[in-house]
Amino acid sequence: MAQTRRTDDLSILNAIAEELNRTVDVGEALDRTLALVTELLRLSTGWIWLLDPDTDRFYKAAAHNLPPYLQDPVRMAGSWCTCTEEFRDGDLAAKNIDVIECSRLKPAVEKNLTDLTQGLRFHASIPLHFQDKPLGIMNLTGPSWRRLTKDELRLLSMIGYQIGITVERARLAEESARLARAEERTRIAREIHDTLAQGLTAIALQIEAALQRLEGPAVEARERLGRALDIARDNLEDARRSVLALRSSPPARGPLGEALTALARGFTSETGVRVRVRRSGNGVLPATFEDELFRIASESLANVRKHARATEVVMTLQVRLRDVRVTVTDNGRGFQADPAPGNAAGQGILGMRERARLIGGDLRIDSAPGKGTTVTVSAKLPEAGSRA
Ligand SMILES: Nc1ncnc2c1ncn2[C@@H]1O[C@H](COP(=O)(O)OP(=O)(O)O)[C@@H](O)[C@H]1O
Ligand SMILES: [Mg+2]
Repeated sequence: MAQTRRTDDLSILNAIAEELNRTVDVGEALDRTLALVTELLRLSTGWIWLLDPDTDRFYKAAAHNLPPYLQDPVRMAGSWCTCTEEFRDGDLAAKNIDVIECSRLKPAVEKNLTDLTQGLRFHASIPLHFQDKPLGIMNLTGPSWRRLTKDELRLLSMIGYQIGITVERARLAEESARLARAEERTRIAREIHDTLAQGLTAIALQIEAALQRLEGPAVEARERLGRALDIARDNLEDARRSVLALRSSPPARGPLGEALTALARGFTSETGVRVRVRRSGNGVLPATFEDELFRIASESLANVRKHARATEVVMTLQVRLRDVRVTVTDNGRGFQADPAPGNAAGQGILGMRERARLIGGDLRIDSAPGKGTTVTVSAKLPEAGSRA
């Protein structure tokens, strides 16, 4: 008997490891894992909170079969609740997986809104860690609450451990992309300093010396050398400014893909609205492209928050050989977008168009009342050799 259970447990852990490894998209991996865990343990509902490493706030990273009451994004913003609070206080230890009365559901439970809660009231919370580092919480519950057995809880904490590894691995990949970029900037700064700036300094010195030795009526030569000296000094000034700029402005956001992912997490944490980020291609974009595309995406999300009343957002970044495209799609209430650029748009949309133009691209808004909204910006990339 015990033997078969162990084999069962192992095959469950195996299935979950496979699910977690199937995609690099953590959100997707967690969604699938939740579905699998609830099915295997014959539960009905689950959701995962993760701590956003940038803001240290919770955001909803995955959800399966939420009751209608919790499907309302407002109720799933990363605000305080019993389980996140216990987790923060460190009371939610791995051994102490406990049944918690859900403070998010409580208002609806008290009003007896069973349609909205589907009878849910309690959940089990499994803390997610990587080594000593707290990462988040997995909450699980069944239709009519039953206490999970000791074996189930033990299995769940092992699953929690697997999830912790997956989340941490994705974070490390993100971090190393940021670091690689910081390193690249330092390398370029050093190169400008070591080669260009030193070369220009030497040229300027030579010209200066030559000028001092020019005697007699060599007016023309003097004039030319004088001009050369001015140019060398100008360029030297430019090189110094570039070095300074590269060194003093740290790559705060990291490469665009990572920056968009972080932006999405922050948005979810504040609004409770899931943002799925899909990235394809991994070419390097010029810095101005990254800046403008990031700002456009961020303004689009600001509009989703302010106007859309959406429950789902998808953000895509496609980098191809010759062009790049970013889209932000929401399933909100939509609006009558004017096809004529510049017409009837607010400052936000005008600003987005302006930014798209700055990188030689354009911005499209597809929207209609009741149909959600898609903002698309696409731009041709400069030839590989001439990229800034
Ligand atoms: N995602 C969206 N969903 C619904 N309506 C939107 C969305 N984005 C923009 N809008 C509509 O377009 C208008 C113009 O947007 P914008 O230029 O950003 O100005 P603002 O946000 O300051 O109103 C908004 O007032 C809103 O009515
Ligand atoms: Mg706006």
